[in-house]
Amino acid sequence: MDFTVDSATPAVQASFDATPDSRLRDVLQSLTRHLHGVVREVEPTISEWNRAIEFLTAVGKACTETRQEFILLSDVLGVSMLVETINGQDVGTESTVLGPFHMTESPVRALGDSIDEVGGSRVCVVSGTVRSTSGRPLAGSTVDVWQCDENGFYDVQVPDVQPAGNGRGLFSTDELGRYWFRTVVPSHYPIPTDGPVGALLNATGRHPYRPAHVHFIASAAGHEEVTTHAFVAGSPYTDSDAVFAVKEGLLVDFVETDDAELGAHYGVEVPFIHAAFDIELAETA
Ligand code: BEZ
Ligand code: FE
Repeated sequence: MDFTVDSATPAVQASFDATPDSRLRDVLQSLTRHLHGVVREVEPTISEWNRAIEFLTAVGKACTETRQEFILLSDVLGVSMLVETINGQDVGTESTVLGPFHMTESPVRALGDSIDEVGGSRVCVVSGTVRSTSGRPLAGSTVDVWQCDENGFYDVQVPDVQPAGNGRGLFSTDELGRYWFRTVVPSHYPIPTDGPVGALLNATGRHPYRPAHVHFIASAAGHEEVTTHAFVAGSPYTDSDAVFAVKEGLLVDFVETDDAELGAHYGVEVPFIHAAFDIELAETA
């Protein structure tokens, strides 16, 4: 049969009928349906299609050992968050995107240590309890955190300014499931804009900013791991995160306190900023 606008989609779908892996077959047939649908709707000119190929080629070429432009593309198209949300647990702390800056192992630190090795201007204590969704505190659970500094940079972005491991820490909760560490209040920051994804944002009038946040991966035996953020409530861009990762339940108040007893408890001088972020993990089925 001749290849026509009408026959194209069933013909290409049928070409995958004999795929031994049925999941792969379903994915490719669905991809064919949707991709052809876009082409039929948009009717790109040949030069527009070439431009699209050039764009994807540039995305591939921008990828290195330390940079993943395809993930960034998935992020700004909302696909990373959609996949995360589809796969997230219905109970417990909500998950959100991993992002590209969890590229080095966080240094193991003791509870109460500072992850700020540079000495920022506003000391902040982040504390919380990791619990099972049944309410049981989870002693010995792992809390991996990473964040940018007060200027919006991760250690890996400015190796001349921040030592490797700055803004990162791997903690183990105490016998009551508690964790706490000292840090600085992170800033909002732009995602990398010097590549094709940045050009896409620019061409569409979209800003590249993410609201201020601390990244977390929490895990405990017998429980589902959660990858999430504590967002600084009131930060710019909480309503327009460039990667669509904000969830209402993850907004956390970073409050200035002059509670001397609390300061003594955490070993910091008052006033300091305190953020309380409890984490609930779903039991594995
Ligand atoms: C991040 O939060 O580190 C991030 C997430 C997605 C894209 C860029 C950065
Ligand atoms: Fe981040």
